[in-house]
Amino acid sequence: MNARAFVVALDGPAGAGKSTVARAVAARLGVEYLDTGAMYRAVTFAVLRRGVSVTDTVEVARLATVIDLEISSTSVMVDGVDATAAIRGREVTDAVSAVAANQAVRTVLVDRQRAWVAARGGGVVEGRDIATVVFPDAVLKLFVTASPRVRAERRVAETGGDVAEVEASIIERDRRDSTRDASPLLLADDAIELDTSDLDIDEVVAEVVRLAEERRMQ
Ligand code: DC
Repeated sequence: MNARAFVVALDGPAGAGKSTVARAVAARLGVEYLDTGAMYRAVTFAVLRRGVSVTDTVEVARLATVIDLEISSTSVMVDGVDATAAIRGREVTDAVSAVAANQAVRTVLVDRQRAWVAARGGGVVEGRDIATVVFPDAVLKLFVTASPRVRAERRVAETGGDVAEVEASIIERDRRDSTRDASPLLLADDAIELDTSDLDIDEVVAEVVRLAEERRMQ
């Protein structure tokens, strides 16, 4: 990685408001934004589309290497197929944790994430292991959290559903993501923790932009 790449790393559990914050911060800083969760979802989409079992770790890792992935701020294309909506669907959401736990898949996607940053000289990168594994030299590391209840309420406001059910699935996904062997979701030593449960997202964005501008000057 280019040591001078200007990377803002945003990690945290599902539904904590990471994507909203990351997109807004990138726009305000005039840099691009990478949603690494969308990459794990895109691989999962390719796996399901080909009828491959997520437990076939070798074949899943092979697919992660060979698929053509185009991720922009508005769309996700997998081998030329528009997967933007499907990667957020139930099927992919249920299977993605198993794909993300595959170490060989992670190695391939981490390389792709580093290449994305190298091509741009930096950016706002969102995920689970960005500060701990992918860009340990990021200029700013943020760990965005919110209570499972608040996260469930936000998700239901966006996509509908039952708050208690969504909350239960969030708790279960957190457990899987933070206890897996491969790059579990962890707070980096030098990360700043932002609990957005009682915060207005605009306030969070303003604070992150302020911190990023401060680091950019240094
Ligand atoms: O943020 P998300 O819900 O779109 O992430 C989808 C899955 O990918 C989720 O199970 C966590 C996993 N993930 C990961 O392991 N590492 C990342 N850098 C990003 C996402």
